[in-house]
Amino acid sequence: MKHEKSPDYSGAGKLGPGGSSSMPFEYRADQRMNGRRQERFQMAQIEARGVRDRRVLEAMRSVPRHLFLPQRYSKVAYADQPLPIGYGQTVSQPYIVAYMTEALHLEGVERVLEVGTGSGYQAAVLSLMVKEVYTVETVKGLADKATKRLRELGYANVHVKWADGYSGWPEKGAFDAILGTAAPPDIPHGLLDQLRVNGRMVLPVGEWIQEILRITKASGDIRTERLLPVRFVPMIHRVKHDTL
Ligand SMILES: C[S@@+](CC[C@H](N)C(=O)[O-])C[C@H]1O[C@@H](n2cnc3c(N)ncnc32)[C@H](O)[C@@H]1O
Repeated sequence: MKHEKSPDYSGAGKLGPGGSSSMPFEYRADQRMNGRRQERFQMAQIEARGVRDRRVLEAMRSVPRHLFLPQRYSKVAYADQPLPIGYGQTVSQPYIVAYMTEALHLEGVERVLEVGTGSGYQAAVLSLMVKEVYTVETVKGLADKATKRLRELGYANVHVKWADGYSGWPEKGAFDAILGTAAPPDIPHGLLDQLRVNGRMVLPVGEWIQEILRITKASGDIRTERLLPVRFVPMIHRVKHDTL
């Protein structure tokens, strides 16, 4: 299968924020390790749980998860658990981030939409694997913080917008892949419309009972696969105001 082929990490990689640096990937990754290399590699034991895509594993090892969290959660940043990011929201556990990223079957050339920027962590992981990431967040405080953090860490190919992402980002579509990190009750038609033919959309769907679905768009046909039972925050369908 195409998405399982080994990537070339040898030099001026596609991997790396914006994919534009001529610095070797491993060196750039080490620079961002920030002293927590071992934890990051252990976190990539997600491999033992079934995540096989080398590019996903390398991206997970590269992104400094602890820098996307409030300081008080830094110590447990690499544990396989969801963690609070403020405003009553959480970042998913590393395994789920890796699982959903792998399920998108990314090859490196894609323009990807994420609904639910949160801390910006998932967007950073995606940014190392694709051409451009467009991510939408409904809580202004989170969108602002993620924008600043992603810029400071050099993830230049991530574009953040404060908006209701239930309807996607129509001006920037269509997208090769769409990732939802909040759960709508049903598959949003606006998102489907913004998915290119042959595109993949992976998102949790449901209210009390939720499942991660992968929706593949073929010309004149939509294929839906049920991947994994999960528990995500609901995808809200209106813009909230910052409460700070
Ligand atoms: C599980 S968190 C996402 C974590 C995030 N991907 C990260 O890496 O930190 C879900 C996020 O979706 C956001 N959200 C909920 N409904 C939304 C909507 N309609 N449009 C955009 N974001 C939404 C929430 O505010 C929350 O930040």
